[in-house]
Amino acid sequence: MSMQAHTDISTPAVLAPVIAIDGPTASGKGTVANRVARALGYACLDSGALYRIIGLLAIEGGVDQSGADGLCGLAAGLAPVFEDGRIWIDGREITEDIRREDVGAAASRVAAVAPLRLALLDLQRRQRRLPGLVADGRDMGTVVFPDAALKVFLVADVQVRAERRFKQLMDKGYPATLPVLLRGMQERDQRDQSREFAPLVPAPDAMVLDSSTLTADAVVAQVLQWYSGRA
Ligand code: DC
Repeated sequence: MSMQAHTDISTPAVLAPVIAIDGPTASGKGTVANRVARALGYACLDSGALYRIIGLLAIEGGVDQSGADGLCGLAAGLAPVFEDGRIWIDGREITEDIRREDVGAAASRVAAVAPLRLALLDLQRRQRRLPGLVADGRDMGTVVFPDAALKVFLVADVQVRAERRFKQLMDKGYPATLPVLLRGMQERDQRDQSREFAPLVPAPDAMVLDSSTLTADAVVAQVLQWYSGRA
């Protein structure tokens, strides 16, 4: 038996550990995921950015936001580049564009289209690499990485989340009003939770953490503590 054959048969591929951080919009998942990833030297996957990219492309291309064929066409061959918190597609930087509220609403609509979710599965799973991955989204622990080593479901009161998003938008100089943000967030929560395919629900084995009254530091510390307890 050749060395190659021996290696192939007896050395199973080492699957990188995954920490899944799911939760509703503006629950702080992104910040927490980035900081946990940095603390551990892991890669980070912002899966919401993928749905936002499709939402942005659908708006710009006038593509039906509930039509599977058009949306899967946008997803085919999608190769976003993530670097230092910035995102490019086809050489165009879209870091700021995908954070717009209209793009967030479009992302929530396209995310309800099951064939699009399937089309994005492989791209997400390919981000899994050693020494590990922290993935944030809605279905990281339930669908994309059901074998994640740690699953965290981060929640926060919707009023608190709307205020956080309001502050973020103000800091960036974007126009926004709190009541409109709050209503949009409630609608998005409702759509994300009630969709048939991969709804926003905690995995049965997820650790639920309410960040309404916690600082980002405290949430990061709790996640790292849970993770080290499992390692
Ligand atoms: O996390 P976010 O706000 O960037 O996500 C934008 C939208 O994308 C959100 O309304 C629902 C959708 N989404 C999803 O359905 N599944 C994911 N894993 C991530 C995001």
